[in-house]
Amino acid sequence: MSYTLENLAEDCRTALRSGESPEALEKVCGFVKKALADNDFMADHLLNREPPPERNVIFEDPELGFCICAHIYAGAKPGDPHDHGPTWAIYGQGEGETEMTDWRIVRPAADGQPALVEKTRSYVLKPGDAHIYPTGAVHAPLRYGATRLLRIEGSNTDRIKRTPIAVV
Ligand SMILES: [Fe+2]
Repeated sequence: MSYTLENLAEDCRTALRSGESPEALEKVCGFVKKALADNDFMADHLLNREPPPERNVIFEDPELGFCICAHIYAGAKPGDPHDHGPTWAIYGQGEGETEMTDWRIVRPAADGQPALVEKTRSYVLKPGDAHIYPTGAVHAPLRYGATRLLRIEGSNTDRIKRTPIAVV
């Protein structure tokens, strides 16, 4: 039996209902990997979808606010270092590869000045991989070609304010 969007949403709801602890995010990350490994899930929600739009919110929980998103990027694109403001995200790589760079905050944003960050490490997300970016984690994705991602966000990042960031 395939893993459906409804199954994923229900599993996430169960994991997150008692809070957004590291353990709960680990559970959600596991559910993302489960969805990425399911051929029917992938076909229905990621592989048979074409941009535009690049960003598709395919489920938003009315009670807890988390979102399940399908991101479809047609070509190469560098990304700037960013956080997700007051929330976390889990990136699940469905197709293609994302080179991700993590950044360390050297000086927090304050008094109208952006946060200063420096690079800490880079790694490649390959199909089937999922990675947790806790609230405040600064990261920058780099795509060399077409990619498809299954993402879970703690709250809809269309409606959040990100921390202003400058590179050291
Ligand atoms: Fe991000």
